[in-house]
Amino acid sequence: MPDHLQTAVRAELARAKVNLALHITGQRNDGYHLLESLVAFPQIGDRIALEPSEKLELDIDGPFARELDPAGDNNLVLRAVRGFAEKAKTDVPSVKITLTKRLPVASGIGGGSSDAATTLRLLEDVTGIYLSGEDLHELAASLGADVPVCLTPEPQVMRGIGDDLAAAPLLPDCGIVLVNPKASLETPDVFRALDKKNNPQLAKMPDAFDDIAALIAYLTNSRNDLQTPAMSVCGAIGEVLNFLQGDSRILFSRMSGSGATCFGLCAPTEMRAIETDLRTAHPDWWIASGPLS
Ligand code: C5P
Repeated sequence: MPDHLQTAVRAELARAKVNLALHITGQRNDGYHLLESLVAFPQIGDRIALEPSEKLELDIDGPFARELDPAGDNNLVLRAVRGFAEKAKTDVPSVKITLTKRLPVASGIGGGSSDAATTLRLLEDVTGIYLSGEDLHELAASLGADVPVCLTPEPQVMRGIGDDLAAAPLLPDCGIVLVNPKASLETPDVFRALDKKNNPQLAKMPDAFDDIAALIAYLTNSRNDLQTPAMSVCGAIGEVLNFLQGDSRILFSRMSGSGATCFGLCAPTEMRAIETDLRTAHPDWWIASGPLS
């Protein structure tokens, strides 16, 4: 390889986490909710790049950079680095991290969680220190309920408070369009608006979802129990869902996580045209599309 192409930068897509179904099945004494969720990680995300440096640095660029404070104590990427050093019993690594923030902040698609999980994976590669699976999971869980699932950006079923993870059936070739009405929602506010905590569990899943029709048949029989409470906090979610439901190329639509981002599933050949048409109709919304897995 020519010298000028050699680089010490390691970069990865920090994929969005989409809750295709999210059932809230109970609440623990500490207030955390018990849930069951089928999650997918589409090829849409932030970008995290790590390179050796004199000291720990974080640069944030990209369309949503202004919404994050790179020096903030509660920045999940920096907390991930410091937590890693503590768990690995080593000095805080001298790395420059560049976060390209392309996913809207506090939007129900796990952007911050995925950034933290991706940082942990890249840190292991850069330092050559690999934590045990148990330590890595424990560290991820200490950063946020959705961080462990983001360590393995593949279809999974989450249970417990989101920390009990299992591989999900294979997903079919499918396109996804993500739409956020540029509204950020605080997860605790949405949980507070949830009346009924003891909802039915997810139905048993097949070994594989053979095609889009099989996936949609399953999803139609499932829910996002946070959708109604989120809509009561943020009216724009209803507008987005109405719009998605009115497009005949979109075969299924729902809100992800605690919102406000909603998703539409479609044939992979349709996703770019749907994205273009949505942008024309709603230049004020955040819209992205890509393969579902
Ligand atoms: O852990 P994380 O910071 O991602 O969670 C944000 C908030 O969402 C928690 O403080 C809690 O109020 C709520 N939550 C919950 N049950 C879960 C996950 C999150 O009540 N299983």
